[in-house]
Amino acid sequence: MRILSGIQPSGSLHIGNYFAMMKRMIEYQKNHELFCFIVNYHALTSVFDAKRLRGNTINAACDFLSLGIDPEKSVFWVQSDVPEVTELTWILSNVVNVGLLERAHSYKDKLARGMVPNHGLFSYPVLMAADILLYGSEKIPVGKDQKQHVEMTRDIAIRFNNTYGDTFVIPEAEIPEDVAVIPGIDGQKMSKSYDNTIQIFCSETELKEKILSIKTDSTPVMAPKDPDKCILFALYSLFIDNEQRSKLRDRYLTPGLKYSDIKKELIGVIWEYFAPFRKKRENLIKEIDVVKEILMEGSEKARNIAGEYLSKARHNVGLDYSI
Ligand code: ADP
Ligand code: TRP
Repeated sequence: MRILSGIQPSGSLHIGNYFAMMKRMIEYQKNHELFCFIVNYHALTSVFDAKRLRGNTINAACDFLSLGIDPEKSVFWVQSDVPEVTELTWILSNVVNVGLLERAHSYKDKLARGMVPNHGLFSYPVLMAADILLYGSEKIPVGKDQKQHVEMTRDIAIRFNNTYGDTFVIPEAEIPEDVAVIPGIDGQKMSKSYDNTIQIFCSETELKEKILSIKTDSTPVMAPKDPDKCILFALYSLFIDNEQRSKLRDRYLTPGLKYSDIKKELIGVIWEYFAPFRKKRENLIKEIDVVKEILMEGSEKARNIAGEYLSKARHNVGLDYSI
């Protein structure tokens, strides 16, 4: 099975990204064909500072590699190193109704938050469809916020195939319920754009500040608490197995639990969980040239596959006039 997903280098990667997408991708590389990339063309819609975009891109690559992406077992690259995707975006644009793009939740949400409605932001889902279709991807591991984008990709692929003949694989999103929406420290969806993240590789002081700032309700210590309404419980649950989660739930339901104790424990759990990866990352950033080399090699592998699908699309729409 061919699995593909991408992440925007629009800021530092966070535990929402990790559990919803990165960790699952890293597991998939053992038994599947994995395509994993850093979508810097997409990040152009929100990052307007070249130095920051370059820095975020390399940082995201270091994060992925230290967390376990293995370039021997996967195809790992930066989106803009395979510029074929922009050509496919244009080809696909002609089977996309404007109405479909106007209905995109993500676009509407970004406008509501004050972003300028430029054309890149509007056609973001077409570039994402090109990303997915260019590699014949079958399964797309993402969080719930990307569900509609993958559905749009399906619509676009079906419409293209109906118009021009069988060209693209119809992909499917994969969104496990337990990591579909991971809350940020303010209770909204954790996102690089909302300033509510816990970064995977933050300092211990930052981690403490973030967890201690999480608001809890005013239930008295000697009353039972509702774990399902508590951000701390949702975050803690990501790091423990089912048995430990049901013990934690019991602690919430038993009078006497102090939120301050849970916060202290959670800081320790998160810090320890990422400790081995932090070590790997410290070594990796001393070898940035190796990281760049890995990305270059990845883009060559990606380009081979991209070339096949792009040629087929060019042929099926009639761009290869000289045959
Ligand atoms: P962000 O919203 O932080 O900019 P991205 O858009 O780069 O994150 O998302 C990368 C991947 O991580 C996507 O698959 C997205 O659905 C997933 N993801 C990001 N934040 C969350 C979250 N809070 N809960 C679940 N999935 C998330
Ligand atoms: N739009 C996705 C996000 O913001 C990132 C993305 C771009 C992507 N291209 C993709 C995800 C292809 C999966 C497949 O999270």
